[in-house]
Amino acid sequence: MEVIHFSAECYPVAKVGGLGDVVGALPKYQCLLGIDARVVMPYYERSFVQSGTFDVAYEDQISLGNTPYTFHILKERENKLGFELYVVHIPGLLDRTEVYGYPDETEQFVAFQLAALQWLSKRQELPDILHCHDHHSGLIPFLASYSKPYERLKTIPTICTIHNGQYQGWMGWDKLHYLPDIDLSKTGLLDWGGCINPLAASIKCCWAYTTVSESYLQELHHHSNGLEFLFELEGQKGYGILNGIDTDVWNPQTDTMIVKKYNQRTVLSGKTANKQALCSQFNLDADKPLITFIGRLVGEKGADLLPEIIFSSLTKYPGEVNFLVLGSGEQHIEHNLLQLAQKFTKHYNVYIGYNEALSHQIYAGADFLLMPSRVEPCGLNQLYALRYGTVPVVRSTGGLKDTVIDMQLDDGYGICFDDASVQSVCYAIDRAVVVHADHPKMQLLRRKMMGLDYSWKRSANQYIQLYQSFKSK
Ligand code: ADP
Ligand code: GLC
Repeated sequence: MEVIHFSAECYPVAKVGGLGDVVGALPKYQCLLGIDARVVMPYYERSFVQSGTFDVAYEDQISLGNTPYTFHILKERENKLGFELYVVHIPGLLDRTEVYGYPDETEQFVAFQLAALQWLSKRQELPDILHCHDHHSGLIPFLASYSKPYERLKTIPTICTIHNGQYQGWMGWDKLHYLPDIDLSKTGLLDWGGCINPLAASIKCCWAYTTVSESYLQELHHHSNGLEFLFELEGQKGYGILNGIDTDVWNPQTDTMIVKKYNQRTVLSGKTANKQALCSQFNLDADKPLITFIGRLVGEKGADLLPEIIFSSLTKYPGEVNFLVLGSGEQHIEHNLLQLAQKFTKHYNVYIGYNEALSHQIYAGADFLLMPSRVEPCGLNQLYALRYGTVPVVRSTGGLKDTVIDMQLDDGYGICFDDASVQSVCYAIDRAVVVHADHPKMQLLRRKMMGLDYSWKRSANQYIQLYQSFKSK
């Protein structure tokens, strides 16, 4: 069985967040389970591509309206990632450094989908499944079914995985002419709320959609940035499949990015050494609890609450706790976090930017990882924290609810709270301070967390079962 994953991100080629992690790992684990999973993604002018060896697998032209573009499908020669990787290179559109944020993003992602489909429809042997991730490949289920040039792909089952329903790829109807030779009687399938909505189109036209946790599947019916009714209509073809983590990349026993490697048995000395190094790098007090945050500094993640949370906690516990934040995003949040660092030297610090190695060092060196998310479809940070013996302190929503059990319960290990409010988070921090003082309990918790299995094994198989269920349809 050959499965093509379409995605804007794939670690380590290009990653902005968890989408990259998932698409960099899931196909690898699917291949290990015996299917031929491949990834097709846009070309980015970044080190993995620049330093790798790529062969031209296909060359052709597409048009966006009247504008023609030559494109190349480049195949990575050595299968370094454990699966076949293809990048779509389109000079003038897909030849840049950043993944998102260009004013012609619509043109970039439409062109990506057209080129990928054109190539696949010209291949002698067709794939068995088209697996689309988020809105960047959301037009594929529609195009494969209702666009003349891709007619050969019409009967191939399509899956749409929703990593984040907040972003939907909206585009005006004036861009309809970008889509080649479509069945005009079907254009209603592209519409949601008066514009072309690629995520909505994907949900309508795919054979099945999945969300990255079971709780998020339910939540989308009530909070999905305007798509609530659509999820009511299409709910019968929705499945919740929890993300896993790549246990080769995220393994404290082999991680070359951290100062001292450790396992369940050596967790105390391992974490102490990593914490000391982190605290000395950021001028923090290694004898006090270290509470951290890693992620995009946006409202979805509750990052706007951080400055007040940190201010309140450091005022309540002067010199008794430390905070370290790694992230980038909205300017006012970055600004407030930076300002605070001048006030609380020695117990708070912030790194504004993206730094993969530092994220590993924080998972390894921290005592607690804070996630006050308002929306969290799955969340991978809490899973990395568990793997590195760091206690997650999370708002019970989406995937956080499905993966973190509060330590007050029998099997529990994390700290959970219900509201994305400063007060609730500060109360959770009070609990963290108390548990940190209880050394035997901390040690027990670390060992317990490190023994949990959130690898891809189970979920990779669940996707395969879903693919196989289409055979009988
Ligand atoms: P999302 O995809 O919504 O951003 P996830 O929890 O699924 O959230 O995944 C976030 C991923 O991005 C994790 O691998 C996390 O470590 C990483 N990450 C987020 N921000 C940064 C940053 N500033 N530097 C390094 N890694 C980051
Ligand atoms: C999205 C979600 C995040 C999820 C990730 C990978 O970016 O915000 O919760 O873990 O995708 O599926």
